[in-house]
Amino acid sequence: MLKIAVAKGRVAEKLNALLMDTRDYKDIMDLNSRKLVFVSEEKEIVFFLVKPSDVPVYVGCGAADVGIVGKDVLMESKSSAYEIMDLKTCKCRIVLAGPSEKSGVRPIVRKIATKYPRIASEYFNKKSEPVEIIKLDGSIELAPIVGLSDAIVDIVESGNTLRENGLIVYENICDITARMIANKVSYKMKNKSISIFASAVSDVVEGGGTCAQNVVMGG
Ligand code: PRP
Repeated sequence: MLKIAVAKGRVAEKLNALLMDTRDYKDIMDLNSRKLVFVSEEKEIVFFLVKPSDVPVYVGCGAADVGIVGKDVLMESKSSAYEIMDLKTCKCRIVLAGPSEKSGVRPIVRKIATKYPRIASEYFNKKSEPVEIIKLDGSIELAPIVGLSDAIVDIVESGNTLRENGLIVYENICDITARMIANKVSYKMKNKSISIFASAVSDVVEGGGTCAQNVVMGG
């Protein structure tokens, strides 16, 4: 049985949309139910839905052989696994954003609110800009509005949340898409079943899934 941990929410929805185009994996997941586990005995596969930040944990320890999760989560994670495919979906970006400035020049920022402390620290370290990182778990856009921070490092998809809260993008940090990852031991021991699943997904990814085998994430 191949065990696949899928990030709940947008990633699960996009993955399921892709799977609906496959011959073998359609109709296994029902995202309208409250179920967390979806088994196909026939295809010898089980999907389970987990909180995005928990996907690298499940895959890292082998409770899942494969994970489907956003690159943002992988960049923030310390777990190690092989990143085996770019699914080219759930496209968004990580940005530095803050209140709109009339001058058009990015203000000096000292306090940064984010749910991505690792990505934010690396970004400002590279620029040799000393900042204080304030870790939050959600509603990041609120932080500069109420004076908790000068700016935010956050994920942006449509840009609506920034706009509706009077914030603008100061700088792009990186582009993000959903990725397929594999447990290192599973990648050896269950290579055939992982390859069959990965190949079926790759076939329905626009332009084909980009495979990046043996790329170690996190660390
Ligand atoms: C994310 C992110 C932004 C929003 C961006 O939050 O932190 O708030 O989505 O999307 P948009 O550019 O399409 O408006 P999420 O929905 O994950 O909720 P959260 O605030 O609880 O983290």
